[in-house]
Amino acid sequence: MRHLLSTRELTRDEAVALLDIAEDMAAVQQREVKKLPTLRGKTVVNLFFEDSTRTRISFEAAAKRLSADVINFSAKGSSVSKGESLKDTAQTLQAMGADGVVIRHHASGAPYTLATSGWIDAGVVNAGDGTHEHPTQALLDAFTMRSRLHGTASRGKGLDGVRVVIVGDILHSRVARSNVWLLATLGADVTLVAPPTLVPVDTTGWPASVVYDLDDALAGSPDVVMMLRIQAERMHGAFFPNSREYARTWGLDDARFSQLPTTTMVMHPGPMNRGLEISALAADSAQSTVREQVANGVSVRMAALYLLLSGERGEA
Ligand code: NCD
Repeated sequence: MRHLLSTRELTRDEAVALLDIAEDMAAVQQREVKKLPTLRGKTVVNLFFEDSTRTRISFEAAAKRLSADVINFSAKGSSVSKGESLKDTAQTLQAMGADGVVIRHHASGAPYTLATSGWIDAGVVNAGDGTHEHPTQALLDAFTMRSRLHGTASRGKGLDGVRVVIVGDILHSRVARSNVWLLATLGADVTLVAPPTLVPVDTTGWPASVVYDLDDALAGSPDVVMMLRIQAERMHGAFFPNSREYARTWGLDDARFSQLPTTTMVMHPGPMNRGLEISALAADSAQSTVREQVANGVSVRMAALYLLLSGERGEA
Protein backbone atom coordinates (compact mmCIF):
# COMPACT_ATOMS: atom_id res chain seq x y z
CA MET A 1 0.00 0.00 0.00
CA ARG A 2 1.47 3.36 -1.00
CA HIS A 3 -1.25 5.75 0.15
CA LEU A 4 -4.53 5.44 2.06
CA LEU A 5 -6.91 7.83 0.34
CA SER A 6 -10.30 6.12 0.42
CA THR A 7 -11.97 2.87 1.46
CA ARG A 8 -13.61 2.59 -1.92
CA GLU A 9 -10.31 1.41 -3.41
CA LEU A 10 -9.61 -1.22 -0.71
CA THR A 11 -10.10 -4.89 -1.50
CA ARG A 12 -11.54 -7.17 1.16
CA ASP A 13 -8.16 -8.84 1.64
CA GLU A 14 -6.41 -5.50 2.10
CA ALA A 15 -9.03 -4.29 4.57
CA VAL A 16 -8.98 -7.51 6.61
CA ALA A 17 -5.17 -7.52 6.61
CA LEU A 18 -5.14 -3.95 7.93
CA LEU A 19 -7.67 -4.82 10.65
CA ASP A 20 -5.59 -7.87 11.62
CA ILE A 21 -2.44 -5.76 11.95
CA ALA A 22 -4.51 -3.36 14.07
CA GLU A 23 -5.27 -6.34 16.35
CA ASP A 24 -1.52 -6.78 16.87
CA MET A 25 -1.17 -3.07 17.52
CA ALA A 26 -4.03 -3.23 20.05
CA ALA A 27 -2.17 -6.02 21.85
CA VAL A 28 0.88 -3.76 22.08
CA GLN A 29 -1.34 -1.09 23.69
CA GLN A 30 -2.04 -3.52 26.53
CA ARG A 31 1.66 -3.79 27.41
CA GLU A 32 3.44 -1.68 29.96
CA VAL A 33 5.74 -0.34 27.25
CA LYS A 34 3.39 0.71 24.48
CA LYS A 35 6.04 1.59 21.96
CA LEU A 36 7.44 -0.28 18.94
CA PRO A 37 10.68 0.70 17.15
CA THR A 38 9.18 0.10 13.68
CA LEU A 39 9.25 3.65 12.33
CA ARG A 40 12.39 4.87 14.07
CA GLY A 41 14.04 7.51 11.88
CA LYS A 42 10.89 8.21 9.86
CA THR A 43 9.09 11.53 9.95
CA VAL A 44 5.31 11.81 9.92
CA VAL A 45 3.71 15.21 9.37
CA ASN A 46 0.16 15.81 10.55
CA LEU A 47 -1.19 18.44 8.17
CA PHE A 48 -4.53 19.70 9.47
CA PHE A 49 -6.34 22.38 7.49
CA GLU A 50 -9.56 21.69 9.38
CA ASP A 51 -10.33 21.41 13.09
CA SER A 52 -9.97 18.04 14.73
CA THR A 53 -9.62 16.65 18.21
CA ARG A 54 -9.78 12.85 18.09
CA THR A 55 -8.31 12.25 14.67
CA ARG A 56 -5.28 14.50 15.12
CA ILE A 57 -4.41 13.26 18.61
CA SER A 58 -4.96 9.70 17.49
CA PHE A 59 -2.60 9.96 14.51
CA GLU A 60 -0.03 11.65 16.70
CA ALA A 61 -0.24 8.89 19.32
CA ALA A 62 -0.11 6.23 16.59
CA ALA A 63 3.01 7.67 14.95
CA LYS A 64 4.75 8.15 18.31
CA ARG A 65 3.97 4.62 19.44
CA LEU A 66 5.74 3.42 16.29
CA SER A 67 8.73 5.64 17.24
CA ALA A 68 8.37 8.03 14.29
CA ASP A 69 9.25 11.69 14.65
CA VAL A 70 6.03 13.69 14.48
CA ILE A 71 5.54 17.21 13.23
CA ASN A 72 2.13 18.76 13.81
CA PHE A 73 1.07 21.42 11.39
CA SER A 74 -2.25 23.17 11.61
CA ALA A 75 -3.34 25.74 9.08
CA LYS A 76 -4.23 28.25 11.77
CA GLY A 77 -1.08 30.05 12.76
CA SER A 78 0.82 28.86 9.70
CA SER A 79 1.58 30.54 6.38
CA VAL A 80 -1.54 28.88 4.97
CA SER A 81 -3.50 31.66 6.63
CA LYS A 82 -1.29 34.02 4.58
CA GLY A 83 -2.53 32.29 1.44
CA GLU A 84 0.23 29.75 0.87
CA SER A 85 -0.96 27.06 -1.53
CA LEU A 86 -1.12 23.34 -0.94
CA LYS A 87 1.66 22.98 -3.48
CA ASP A 88 4.03 25.28 -1.62
CA THR A 89 3.18 23.66 1.69
CA ALA A 90 3.83 20.23 0.15
CA GLN A 91 7.17 21.32 -1.24
CA THR A 92 8.18 22.59 2.19
CA LEU A 93 7.36 19.20 3.68
CA GLN A 94 9.28 17.47 0.91
CA ALA A 95 12.32 19.63 1.61
CA MET A 96 12.08 18.66 5.30
CA GLY A 97 12.14 14.98 4.39
CA ALA A 98 8.64 13.91 5.41
CA ASP A 99 8.11 10.16 4.92
CA GLY A 100 4.40 10.24 5.68
CA VAL A 101 1.81 12.99 5.49
CA VAL A 102 -1.52 12.73 7.28
CA ILE A 103 -3.80 15.32 5.77
CA ARG A 104 -7.21 16.70 6.73
CA HIS A 105 -8.56 19.28 4.32
CA HIS A 106 -11.86 21.09 3.72
CA ALA A 107 -11.61 20.37 0.00
CA SER A 108 -12.73 16.94 -1.19
CA GLY A 109 -9.86 15.45 -3.20
CA ALA A 110 -6.99 17.40 -1.58
CA PRO A 111 -5.24 14.22 -0.30
CA TYR A 112 -5.52 12.69 -3.76
CA THR A 113 -3.96 15.81 -5.30
CA LEU A 114 -1.13 15.64 -2.77
CA ALA A 115 -0.54 11.94 -3.46
CA THR A 116 -0.58 12.16 -7.25
CA SER A 117 0.83 15.62 -7.95
CA GLY A 118 4.47 14.63 -7.77
CA TRP A 119 5.07 17.48 -5.30
CA ILE A 120 6.02 15.03 -2.60
CA ASP A 121 7.36 11.46 -2.28
CA ALA A 122 5.72 10.77 1.08
CA GLY A 123 2.96 8.25 1.72
CA VAL A 124 -0.31 10.12 2.12
CA VAL A 125 -3.08 9.23 4.56
CA ASN A 126 -6.44 10.92 4.15
CA ALA A 127 -7.64 12.04 7.59
CA GLY A 128 -10.89 13.47 6.19
CA ASP A 129 -11.34 15.51 3.01
CA GLY A 130 -14.39 17.73 2.73
CA THR A 131 -17.48 15.60 2.36
CA HIS A 132 -15.61 12.87 0.49
CA GLU A 133 -13.91 10.23 2.64
CA HIS A 134 -12.39 9.49 6.03
CA PRO A 135 -10.94 6.01 5.56
CA THR A 136 -9.29 5.49 8.97
CA GLN A 137 -12.58 6.36 10.69
CA ALA A 138 -14.40 3.65 8.74
CA LEU A 139 -11.58 1.20 9.47
CA LEU A 140 -11.74 1.90 13.20
CA ASP A 141 -15.52 1.54 13.07
CA ALA A 142 -15.19 -1.83 11.34
CA PHE A 143 -12.52 -2.85 13.84
CA THR A 144 -14.85 -1.91 16.70
CA MET A 145 -17.75 -3.90 15.22
CA ARG A 146 -15.54 -6.91 14.64
CA SER A 147 -14.19 -6.86 18.20
CA ARG A 148 -17.62 -6.51 19.78
CA LEU A 149 -18.97 -9.34 17.64
CA HIS A 150 -16.05 -11.76 17.67
CA GLY A 151 -13.74 -10.68 20.49
CA THR A 152 -10.35 -12.37 20.35
CA ALA A 153 -11.55 -14.53 17.43
CA SER A 154 -11.81 -11.48 15.11
CA ARG A 155 -8.69 -12.12 13.07
CA GLY A 156 -9.29 -12.91 9.43
CA LYS A 157 -12.98 -12.10 9.66
CA GLY A 158 -15.07 -9.60 7.71
CA LEU A 159 -18.52 -8.38 8.71
CA ASP A 160 -20.63 -10.74 6.66
CA GLY A 161 -24.35 -10.37 7.21
CA VAL A 162 -23.94 -7.67 9.88
CA ARG A 163 -26.84 -5.23 9.58
CA VAL A 164 -25.75 -1.61 10.00
CA VAL A 165 -28.06 1.40 10.05
CA ILE A 166 -26.33 4.77 9.54
CA VAL A 167 -28.46 7.71 10.60
CA GLY A 168 -28.38 11.47 10.09
CA ASP A 169 -26.42 13.97 8.07
CA ILE A 170 -25.37 11.64 5.26
CA LEU A 171 -25.08 14.55 2.83
CA HIS A 172 -22.11 16.16 4.57
CA SER A 173 -20.59 13.02 6.02
CA ARG A 174 -17.30 11.63 4.79
CA VAL A 175 -17.62 9.10 7.61
CA ALA A 176 -20.81 7.75 6.05
CA ARG A 177 -19.24 7.51 2.61
CA SER A 178 -16.13 5.69 3.84
CA ASN A 179 -18.30 3.37 5.92
CA VAL A 180 -20.65 2.54 3.07
CA TRP A 181 -17.79 1.38 0.84
CA LEU A 182 -15.85 -0.46 3.51
CA LEU A 183 -18.83 -2.15 5.14
CA ALA A 184 -20.08 -3.38 1.76
CA THR A 185 -16.61 -4.70 0.93
CA LEU A 186 -16.58 -6.56 4.25
CA GLY A 187 -19.99 -8.12 3.54
CA ALA A 188 -22.22 -6.03 5.81
CA ASP A 189 -25.71 -4.91 4.88
CA VAL A 190 -25.99 -1.11 5.08
CA THR A 191 -29.12 1.06 5.39
CA LEU A 192 -28.92 4.84 5.41
CA VAL A 193 -31.61 6.84 7.22
CA ALA A 194 -32.00 10.60 6.95
CA PRO A 195 -34.41 13.36 6.10
CA PRO A 196 -34.58 13.66 2.30
CA THR A 197 -32.76 17.01 2.51
CA LEU A 198 -29.73 15.32 4.08
CA VAL A 199 -29.37 12.53 1.54
CA PRO A 200 -26.99 13.18 -1.39
CA VAL A 201 -28.78 13.88 -4.66
CA ASP A 202 -27.42 10.78 -6.33
CA THR A 203 -26.80 7.62 -4.35
CA THR A 204 -27.20 5.25 -7.27
CA GLY A 205 -24.17 3.03 -7.25
CA TRP A 206 -23.80 3.23 -3.48
CA PRO A 207 -23.89 -0.27 -2.01
CA ALA A 208 -26.56 0.72 0.55
CA SER A 209 -30.29 1.23 0.71
CA VAL A 210 -31.76 4.60 1.64
CA VAL A 211 -34.90 4.98 3.79
CA TYR A 212 -36.50 7.98 5.46
CA ASP A 213 -38.19 6.54 8.55
CA LEU A 214 -35.95 5.87 11.52
CA ASP A 215 -38.53 3.89 13.49
CA ASP A 216 -39.05 1.52 10.56
CA ALA A 217 -35.30 1.04 10.19
CA LEU A 218 -34.84 0.36 13.91
CA ALA A 219 -37.81 -2.03 13.99
CA GLY A 220 -35.64 -4.45 12.01
CA SER A 221 -33.39 -4.81 15.12
CA PRO A 222 -30.10 -3.96 13.41
CA ASP A 223 -26.79 -5.15 14.83
CA VAL A 224 -25.34 -1.64 14.68
CA VAL A 225 -26.86 1.85 14.78
CA MET A 226 -24.35 4.52 13.79
CA MET A 227 -25.44 8.07 14.53
CA LEU A 228 -23.85 10.94 12.60
CA ARG A 229 -23.24 14.48 13.74
CA ILE A 230 -25.34 17.26 12.28
CA GLN A 231 -22.56 19.23 10.55
CA ALA A 232 -23.89 22.72 11.11
CA GLU A 233 -20.62 24.26 9.90
CA ARG A 234 -21.20 22.80 6.43
CA MET A 235 -24.84 23.89 6.24
CA HIS A 236 -25.58 27.13 4.52
CA GLY A 237 -29.35 26.97 4.63
CA ALA A 238 -32.16 25.16 6.39
CA PHE A 239 -32.02 21.40 6.03
CA PHE A 240 -34.63 20.69 8.72
CA PRO A 241 -37.19 22.84 10.58
CA ASN A 242 -35.40 23.09 13.95
CA SER A 243 -33.31 21.05 16.39
CA ARG A 244 -36.26 19.82 18.41
CA GLU A 245 -37.98 18.55 15.32
CA TYR A 246 -34.79 16.86 14.14
CA ALA A 247 -34.20 15.15 17.50
CA ARG A 248 -37.80 13.97 17.62
CA THR A 249 -37.81 12.54 14.10
CA TRP A 250 -34.24 11.42 13.43
CA GLY A 251 -32.51 11.37 16.79
CA LEU A 252 -31.63 8.30 18.85
CA ASP A 253 -33.55 9.60 21.85
CA ASP A 254 -34.23 7.74 25.10
CA ALA A 255 -37.45 6.16 23.85
CA ARG A 256 -35.94 4.79 20.65
CA PHE A 257 -32.82 3.67 22.47
CA SER A 258 -34.83 1.73 25.09
CA GLN A 259 -36.60 -0.20 22.35
CA LEU A 260 -33.40 -1.47 20.77
CA PRO A 261 -32.24 -4.99 21.55
CA THR A 262 -29.55 -4.87 24.23
CA THR A 263 -27.15 -6.44 21.74
CA THR A 264 -27.40 -3.55 19.26
CA MET A 265 -24.21 -1.49 19.20
CA VAL A 266 -24.63 2.28 19.34
CA MET A 267 -21.83 4.07 17.48
CA HIS A 268 -20.90 7.72 16.88
CA PRO A 269 -17.65 9.02 15.38
CA GLY A 270 -17.69 12.13 17.58
CA PRO A 271 -17.93 14.98 18.20
CA MET A 272 -21.46 14.31 19.48
CA ASN A 273 -24.27 16.81 19.69
CA ARG A 274 -25.87 15.33 22.80
CA GLY A 275 -29.61 15.86 22.80
CA LEU A 276 -29.70 16.40 19.04
CA GLU A 277 -28.74 13.26 17.12
CA ILE A 278 -28.11 11.15 20.23
CA SER A 279 -29.34 11.26 23.82
CA ALA A 280 -26.97 11.11 26.76
CA LEU A 281 -28.60 7.85 27.86
CA ALA A 282 -27.76 6.21 24.53
CA ALA A 283 -24.28 7.74 24.26
CA ASP A 284 -23.22 6.68 27.76
CA SER A 285 -24.86 3.25 27.76
CA ALA A 286 -23.05 -0.08 27.82
CA GLN A 287 -24.17 -0.54 24.22
CA SER A 288 -22.33 2.60 23.18
CA THR A 289 -18.93 2.03 21.58
CA VAL A 290 -17.98 5.71 21.48
CA ARG A 291 -14.94 5.40 23.75
CA GLU A 292 -13.87 2.08 22.24
CA GLN A 293 -13.95 3.73 18.84
CA VAL A 294 -11.47 6.35 20.05
CA ALA A 295 -9.17 3.76 21.61
CA ASN A 296 -9.33 1.55 18.53
CA GLY A 297 -8.52 4.56 16.36
CA VAL A 298 -4.94 4.54 17.65
CA SER A 299 -4.45 0.84 16.81
CA VAL A 300 -5.97 1.21 13.34
CA ARG A 301 -3.84 4.28 12.56
CA MET A 302 -0.73 2.48 13.78
CA ALA A 303 -1.59 -0.31 11.33
CA ALA A 304 -2.08 2.16 8.48
CA LEU A 305 1.18 4.01 9.16
CA TYR A 306 3.00 0.70 9.53
CA LEU A 307 1.72 -0.55 6.17
CA LEU A 308 2.57 2.70 4.42
CA LEU A 309 5.89 3.56 5.94
CA SER A 310 7.73 0.49 7.15
CA GLY A 311 10.16 -1.31 4.88
CA GLU A 312 10.23 -0.57 1.18
CA ARG A 313 7.19 1.55 0.30
CA GLY A 314 4.91 0.10 -2.31
CA GLU A 315 5.86 -3.53 -1.63
CA ALA A 316 3.42 -4.18 1.19
C1 NCD B 1 -15.78 13.17 11.86
C2 NCD B 1 -15.11 14.02 10.82
O1 NCD B 1 -14.35 14.93 11.11
O2 NCD B 1 -15.35 13.73 9.65
N1 NCD B 1 -15.18 13.20 13.11
C3 NCD B 1 -14.09 12.43 13.35
O3 NCD B 1 -13.18 12.33 12.58
N2 NCD B 1 -14.08 11.76 14.52
C4 NCD B 1 -17.22 13.34 11.90
C5 NCD B 1 -17.74 14.70 12.23
O4 NCD B 1 -17.04 15.70 12.23
O5 NCD B 1 -18.95 14.74 12.50
